Amino acid sequence: MAVLLESQGLTKNFGKLRAVNGVDYSIEEGKTYGIIGPNGSGKTTFFNLLSGFHQPSSGQVRFDGKDITNTESFVRTGMGVARTFQLVSVFESLSVWENLVLSTLRFKQSSYPRALPFFFRKANQEESLEDCFTALETVGLAGKAEKPTTVLSYGDKRLLEIAIVLSLKPRLLLLDEPFAGLSDYEIGFIMELIQSLSGKFTQIIIEHKISKLITLVEKLSVLHNGSIICADVPEAVLENAEVRNVYWGRGAGCD
Ligand SMILES: Nc1ncnc2c1ncn2[C@@H]1O[C@H](COP(=O)(O)OP(=O)(O)O)[C@@H](O)[C@H]1O
Ligand SMILES: [Mg+2]
Repeated sequence: MAVLLESQGLTKNFGKLRAVNGVDYSIEEGKTYGIIGPNGSGKTTFFNLLSGFHQPSSGQVRFDGKDITNTESFVRTGMGVARTFQLVSVFESLSVWENLVLSTLRFKQSSYPRALPFFFRKANQEESLEDCFTALETVGLAGKAEKPTTVLSYGDKRLLEIAIVLSLKPRLLLLDEPFAGLSDYEIGFIMELIQSLSGKFTQIIIEHKISKLITLVEKLSVLHNGSIICADVPEAVLENAEVRNVYWGRGAGCD
């Protein structure tokens, strides 16, 4: 299968701290991947480098055969690289539908060519509304479209965040800790959603809840001090001696 995204020697320094250290990474289109690692091991920074929210100190990122190392984040979103954020970040005062449409248009307009003629903008907006509706149905929130975002449960807010990303029709979906702060019931719902999306989108999921993550992904990578120390099918990763030592040996736990 075709390689969709790859990084070579990807490195990010924050002053003297090397948060991501020479990461070589490669994923194929249509598969679902997982990334684990102790707190502070560089997982979110790695996503920031893939999505363009941070510039690497050195190394390269390629998407769909193109070098996107210096491509701005909004352009990458337009190319199909979309990410959710770790914190629930939807606007509280709006309805679910307003929130979705506003967020989607904001993302999309920033990735449109500047001088798009009016009639194209209008057509794009109509298509965007359709994409929003489809995304809302996909995550199971269509019945709550008119509700104020304030009354949504934390789990529903997470679904709304995922709907915002899906409405952008990404090719690659980057999910940073989608289960954080959710109840087991809500986690089950998000897991079903991720499973229903697998094959339709390529997904990379950062997650602390390893026992849940391994049921979703085909390949698991472990970051430790900014380096990938193991990348394999989940069963092999969990048996890897170095992973067991640096991860569970530090009392991180496997929940
Ligand atoms: N913007 C930043 N400025 C300075 N240090 C940062 C910044 N972002 C992350 N770091 C540091 O980089 C390291 C990796 O952080 P992060 O990527 O958030 O880890 P993880 O997501 O695996 O918990 C941590 O030591 C963190 O404090
Ligand atoms: Mg993180």
